[in-house]
Amino acid sequence: MKEASAVGVASGKVILLGEHSVVYGEPAIAAAIDRQLEVTVRPRSGGNPYGAIGNRQRLAIARAAQRFGIEPETLMVEVRSEIPMGCGLGSSAAFSLALIRALSLFSRKPLLDGEVASRAAEIENVFHGTASGVDLAAAVQGGVIWFERFSAAPIVELLPPEPLDLVIALSGKPRGTFGPVSRLRDRYERFPKLYGRMFRLTGDVVRSARIALAAGDLELLGSLMNAAHGLLNALGVSTPTIDRMVRLARSAGAVGAKLTGAGGGGAVIALAPRGAEAVVSALAEEGFESFVTRLSVREPKGSQ
Ligand code: MEV
Repeated sequence: MKEASAVGVASGKVILLGEHSVVYGEPAIAAAIDRQLEVTVRPRSGGNPYGAIGNRQRLAIARAAQRFGIEPETLMVEVRSEIPMGCGLGSSAAFSLALIRALSLFSRKPLLDGEVASRAAEIENVFHGTASGVDLAAAVQGGVIWFERFSAAPIVELLPPEPLDLVIALSGKPRGTFGPVSRLRDRYERFPKLYGRMFRLTGDVVRSARIALAAGDLELLGSLMNAAHGLLNALGVSTPTIDRMVRLARSAGAVGAKLTGAGGGGAVIALAPRGAEAVVSALAEEGFESFVTRLSVREPKGSQ
């Protein structure tokens, strides 16, 4: 027997440091953010099965439904998102996770947490090709995490001594993860030693940032975020607009600012312990929307 309708919810995420190099096995620090995405699944009663959603989401729904033994055409699926889509803030991972949670309730097939995560990972790959899993890990775990893809224990919960206020600024240029990740892979395959060194150097920055975070040394953490942005620039995933936003944030007092997520557009994060609002205003003056999010200890959202 199936539920009349079922809702799954999942959080967005932010990568503090380590995007891209995390795909190659280096560590990343990421966190869930207090913005959610909600998927509602109900039996279809005529009309467009999935409402107004894109092709990749359709494909993801079809795959996920089949894994639960449900004919995709029999479903109506609605998505409501507080997470800006395609901005590097984990909307694809949140969609995948919320969808699996909703389908599990709808079909009355409860799953263990690990099964939810592995099914959501399969679905996330519809969007990303070969995602490292960091976005999903942050959404599933909540709080601030250390993530190392090939480690025996890939997710470690980090406990910053104080909650961390982060400015998240949107470039207004949505982008997919697939393109920047696969173009960087092409460059890596052409010059594996050179790009491998840059990934390892980024890993060293992330390892140092873990120490700064644990010590509550936000000036140092900010410097390391700046170093990470320099390396992302060297990897070729930043853009003139992103660089301009980073400069604006630093001029307005941020101790650290960098792109977050896959780059090529998307979003910037800034750490401004002495005045996040000044950074928000400086960005707004130049037409960039931003908001402040508080990263704190674990508080998983939307689990079953
Ligand atoms: C995307 O949010 C983060 C990337 O490192 C890709 C991934 O880890 O799958 C760019």
